[in-house]
Amino acid sequence: MGINLKSKREIEIMRDANRIVAEILLDLKERVKEGVTTAELDRRAEELAGKYGAEPAFKGYMGYPASLCVSINEEIVHGIPSEERVIKNGDIVSLDFGVIYKGYYGDAALTVGVGNISETAKKLMEVTEKALYIGIEEAVPGNHIGDIGFAIQNFVEKNGFNVVREFTGHGIGKKLHEEPYVPNYGTRGSGPLIREGLTIAIEPMVTEGTWKVKILKDGWTAVTADGKLAAHFEHTIAVTSSGPEILSRV
Ligand code: MF3
Ligand code: CO
Repeated sequence: MGINLKSKREIEIMRDANRIVAEILLDLKERVKEGVTTAELDRRAEELAGKYGAEPAFKGYMGYPASLCVSINEEIVHGIPSEERVIKNGDIVSLDFGVIYKGYYGDAALTVGVGNISETAKKLMEVTEKALYIGIEEAVPGNHIGDIGFAIQNFVEKNGFNVVREFTGHGIGKKLHEEPYVPNYGTRGSGPLIREGLTIAIEPMVTEGTWKVKILKDGWTAVTADGKLAAHFEHTIAVTSSGPEILSRV
């Protein structure tokens, strides 16, 4: 119970776990092309995890049936890879991947456009990625978790988009999801105090229209209630005495 602050040694292992995630996401990103199936990306992710001596973190987690989440266009998160789902020109494709390495979790996500994407799609992806970095900047000792959500929400709404409420970022370490929850909305000064040794995944999910979510019949895929676009970026970070260190970066 409570927040598990990590030692320098633990953060070193998490740096390795998250670097593996980042390397794999970079490889997958290059493979997101018209005509590729989402099942192919899932197989590649699993194969690479094995090569790095890591275990895919999502497979079997609460019954999730794959290693990778691939969420396209109005899909926000937790899209299940399939042989039937073929990537098309104009899609925006979110890849979310995690591993377990030496007992610790890594978790990150990114969204990539395929071919000719709309101006709105392009802006949505840019705003979501920028929101992630704006949130990360707030992860300094002495701030509160609510400062992260406030900064993300404020930036996203100023740009005419919305933040999803139903899913949040999270503490991460020996478990994929630890305390605290890290919402992408909030008020300054609210929530738990941010201290050195805190390791969290910050993951803005941003929508073009409504922030309301529907879950498809597969029990996993979260889509926007109005069918408009969504984007998702995520990093795992560690809070050091001098500020945030992004662990899931190549
Ligand atoms: N990055 C997502 C999260 O932090 C991935 C979880 S997918 C699941 O919740 F299948 F593992 F649930
Ligand atoms: Co996560």
